[in-house]
Amino acid sequence: MGWHTKNNEVRIVKIDKVRIEAHNVKSIFFRDELSALAEPGQFLMVWIPGVDEIPLSVSSTLDGLVSVTVKEVGEATHALNNMARGSLIGIRGPFGSHFKISGKRALVVGGGIGSAPLLLLIDKLLRNGVKTLFIEGAKTRSEILFQDRLNLLRDEYGLEIIFTTDDGSYGVKGLATDVAERCLSERRFDSLYACGKEPMIRKLFLLSEKYAVPMQASLERIMRCAMGICGSCVIGKYRVCRDGPVFDSKQLREIINELGRFKRDFRGEKVPIK
Ligand SMILES: Cc1cc2nc3c(=O)[nH]c(=O)nc-3n(C[C@H](O)[C@H](O)[C@H](O)COP(=O)(O)OP(=O)(O)OC[C@H]3O[C@@H](n4cnc5c(N)ncnc54)[C@H](O)[C@@H]3O)c2cc1C
Ligand code: FES
Repeated sequence: MGWHTKNNEVRIVKIDKVRIEAHNVKSIFFRDELSALAEPGQFLMVWIPGVDEIPLSVSSTLDGLVSVTVKEVGEATHALNNMARGSLIGIRGPFGSHFKISGKRALVVGGGIGSAPLLLLIDKLLRNGVKTLFIEGAKTRSEILFQDRLNLLRDEYGLEIIFTTDDGSYGVKGLATDVAERCLSERRFDSLYACGKEPMIRKLFLLSEKYAVPMQASLERIMRCAMGICGSCVIGKYRVCRDGPVFDSKQLREIINELGRFKRDFRGEKVPIK
């Protein structure tokens, strides 16, 4: 049986550990051999028994212990964040394209829960000797994610970190994109990596074009099947579940008319992003 067939089978796993990361955000840890092989940016379909199955990015794979980091926004994420150690969940995946390491100087920008897949990426960049600057944007201090682990990576590998908050309650007051623009204008980077809300990705993509830095971005769309069948995750000519979620500059250029402007709703209809 091939890897692709195997990773599409649901595996039932036991929650090993739950960590509170921030207001309404928890990391759920479990052991699963296939998920531990996930590359940064890949996602799992997580089945919460009796509720729903939802896409979640892998946020860490340290020593075979896998985590997803979940922000409560609706029924399924609420149910998952209320599950205790020892509870059972179903896992399919890992699915999708992933961030590829290129060059020796990386700028990584995360907005809100978008920082979840970037934690795994930053770990890999640093282990590969890439000098990395991470700009993490949040609305307010209580929504900053992974501070302890990022500080460990700073101490061990020299990760540079800039936190931004919209209300100035922590780090630099303002938007992560504004700080990113300042850094791009002052320093040379070989790659720009990003994950967050689509309007943020759009802004960063335009900056990456202006400063001629190749970009890779992870996009989020409503997903139902995660197998390229239902069409709920379409953006331009791509399906995020099969062709993404990570897209490079060439692909982002092709979908610039939709990027950050339109999405599909739960009925698959194209609607403006507010
Ligand atoms: C590839 C991928 C990776 C993701 N990684 C993570 C992650 O690491 N951590 C995390 O917390 N969330 C992640 N998400 C988003 C997560 O899947 C949704 O928040 C979840 O499906 C919402 O389910 P719900 O039943 O709690 O909310 P619902 O009741 O279904 O929806 C509540 C609100 O969330 C919006 N929403 C629902 N589904 C999605 C979706 N797939 N994408 C964006 N908005 C959605 C709805 O429009 C609605 O406004 C990811 C999504 C994708 C496509
Ligand atoms: S989620 Fe069904 S086509 Fe992508």
